[in-house]
Amino acid sequence: MDTLASAPTVKATILDPWYNRGIGGERDDYNEWLAEVVHAACHVSEHVFLWGFPEILAYQIPAIPKGFRLLAWLTWYYKNCPSVVGGWRSAQNTCLHLAVDDVAVYPEHFLNQEQLERWKSGKMRFIPGPTSVIETPLNIGFVGKREQTGHPAQKPLAVIELLVLMATRPGNTVLDPMCGSGTTGEACRRLQRHTILCDSSPDYLDITCKRLYARRSQVDDTYGSQLE
Ligand SMILES: C[S@@+](CC[C@H](N)C(=O)[O-])C[C@H]1O[C@@H](n2cnc3c(N)ncnc32)[C@H](O)[C@@H]1O
Repeated sequence: MDTLASAPTVKATILDPWYNRGIGGERDDYNEWLAEVVHAACHVSEHVFLWGFPEILAYQIPAIPKGFRLLAWLTWYYKNCPSVVGGWRSAQNTCLHLAVDDVAVYPEHFLNQEQLERWKSGKMRFIPGPTSVIETPLNIGFVGKREQTGHPAQKPLAVIELLVLMATRPGNTVLDPMCGSGTTGEACRRLQRHTILCDSSPDYLDITCKRLYARRSQVDDTYGSQLE
């Protein structure tokens, strides 16, 4: 909350909080707490992407801040998760794409050169953007081995890159106040966007710094001392 309160205005914020179970523990006021975080993020961003399991995010729909709307309900679908919840094998995560009215989105960022030329010359009647169901496997076992950092809830780069491409242009800034292993940072670096990252865990910040080849002295002073 401190990071969100002191953050500059950014184009997009990615919120990928822990899921009120397992790592991070449980809190009774999780829904209210998350709504407060979303409000704070909406205060500094034009786009807010909120990750979680559908049964958690359903509670956030009525709490969408004034001036923002649900632009898209995205589903990340993965077939390779071994965990079973209530008899069903877990295979989906939700991402709510919240945005201010009339905000710019960039489906053209997903076009190849030929499609881009057709679109620019007005010959394309609609832009075929990416689908709202994103099918990408979890990075576990041998899948995504080179990407894995050891963080227990790391999102695949391919999933986060879609969000960054849809909502931002090169040079824009993306904030991720619960950055975990720094996937947002890596996506932004690859796509030439700026990024502001933080996490409450010094260990995970350490993973992020190593991943982004950041020198510890370049990390914000608030967290730098914890990393030493
Ligand atoms: C689901 S993980 C994020 C994973 C990340 N998107 C990635 O791809 O690596 C959630 C993160 O939130 C962090 N976290 C939990 N509570 C926090 C808080 N109050 N402030 C900042 N970070 C927090 C945890 O340490 C954890 O790394």
